[in-house]
Amino acid sequence: MTTKIFRKKIVCIGAGYVGGPTMTIIANNCPDYQVTVVDISEERINAWNSDQLPIFEPGLLERIQKTRGKNLFFSTDIDRCIEEADIIFVAVNTPTKTFGEGEGKAVDLQYIEQTARRIKKNAKSNKIVVEKSTIPVRAAETLANILHSGSNSVQFEILSNPEFMAEGTGVEDMEAPDRVLIGSKGTPSGIIARDTLMEIYLHWVPRERLVTTNLWSSELSKLVSNAFLAQRISSINTIAALCEVTEADVTEVSRAIGMDSRIGAKFLNAGPGFGGSCFRKDILNLVYLCEYYQLPEVAAFWEQVVALNDYQMERYVKRILQAMFNTLVGKKLAVFGFAFKPDTGDTRDAPAIYICKQLLEERADLNITDPHALDNARKELQGIEGEVSFVEDPYKAAEGAHGIALITEWNLYQELDYQKIYDSMEKPAFIFDGRNCLDHQALYEIGFNVYPLGKPPLNHL
Ligand code: UDX
Ligand code: ADP
Repeated sequence: MTTKIFRKKIVCIGAGYVGGPTMTIIANNCPDYQVTVVDISEERINAWNSDQLPIFEPGLLERIQKTRGKNLFFSTDIDRCIEEADIIFVAVNTPTKTFGEGEGKAVDLQYIEQTARRIKKNAKSNKIVVEKSTIPVRAAETLANILHSGSNSVQFEILSNPEFMAEGTGVEDMEAPDRVLIGSKGTPSGIIARDTLMEIYLHWVPRERLVTTNLWSSELSKLVSNAFLAQRISSINTIAALCEVTEADVTEVSRAIGMDSRIGAKFLNAGPGFGGSCFRKDILNLVYLCEYYQLPEVAAFWEQVVALNDYQMERYVKRILQAMFNTLVGKKLAVFGFAFKPDTGDTRDAPAIYICKQLLEERADLNITDPHALDNARKELQGIEGEVSFVEDPYKAAEGAHGIALITEWNLYQELDYQKIYDSMEKPAFIFDGRNCLDHQALYEIGFNVYPLGKPPLNHL
């Protein structure tokens, strides 16, 4: 047996939502590179080595099966992989701090720092270290300071290469990215490191889509991209509130304004609020930065995007309460969808968490259904008081319910037999379409009292 000689060895520290898919696509497109994804969690690594991946992402398993064991490996042998690697991607989690200075806003950098120390301890030759995790502006400096501290003669070149992949479309976002952003120092060694990373992407990404900037612009652009996207959602959600009281229709308004090419049509869907691991975290991080640099007006502007998202989730619950005669005590509600968006099992910061907790506070009984997120939903609501069942089958979830709250727009909810569902429910039967993805007129004709979002209700009462 001959051992394949690889052109370069890559290791990615952190086998999560970012590390796993990103490295899979790199391995798929760069057969001349050895790509190893490492993690402190043995359970995660075992899952990546099986066909029951730790995350649900359409198209990912097939891509992993194509390269796993050839040039793509998942391992817990972090120290050895660091020692052998030429390029080290850092994709550990960077949650919002829940304690001390900056609590609730600043990024908790403990996992980044632990990783930096481990790299320093095990590196015996020069390395390129690539920040993949979203971290605050100038974090590369912290990383460099730790890596170059003490008497180590090894040289580290830090690059920023933020991830713009969205869950559910992660594979296509990586395979055909709008752009790949690489931030580096302008020094000769910084430029060589940048070009080394560019060589990887040039295996499948056209040159004109590779954007190079200085380190700080790259770090900041990641936060700003997410802040701008979230800002659009909060903006349209405020208009949804206005539509509900003026008989305007938010879908029509979105369409009308989105046709202006200066505005653009994407990210203008009103909903129960944005979720996911990035938006809230990144905006709060931006707010913290602005406060740190004494820009209170700028901080207040961005903080309002998050405040309006909280308002939107509250509004959705209030609408349910008001429509259902101002009491939910003992009423059964079927919750359609718990993931923060379709095509993922991820429930981090999902609006469903807040909404379900509020509904339980109103003492509603909940039957939660979701095709991929029920395990995570169980974990999110662990220890919360109230009657909650987790039900695979949406028809069963709706049986005997007084109302349906649709929170995630899974395709399957558009294909259900709503006559059958209506027949099995308590009357009057309500449906709160938080994503405007159902045929409201048809539901109304079946007999439902229909509450779309950002449109007047279709009510038989
Ligand atoms: C986001 C960014 O899009 C991605 O570039 C970055 O790398 C990670 O963060 P993600 O959080 O996976 O990706 O999902 P995204 O598609 O952006 O949706 C985020 C939230 O916004 C979801 O809860 C979604 O339901 C909501 N949303 C999105 C709306 O409510 N309306 C819209 O029009 C679009
Ligand atoms: P993201 O969405 O940013 O990818 P995840 O939480 O999905 O975040 O993944 C981060 C991964 O990083 C987790 O699997 C976690 O176990 C791993 N991790 C955290 N700290 C370390 C560390 N010091 N060394 C190796 N892996 C780590």
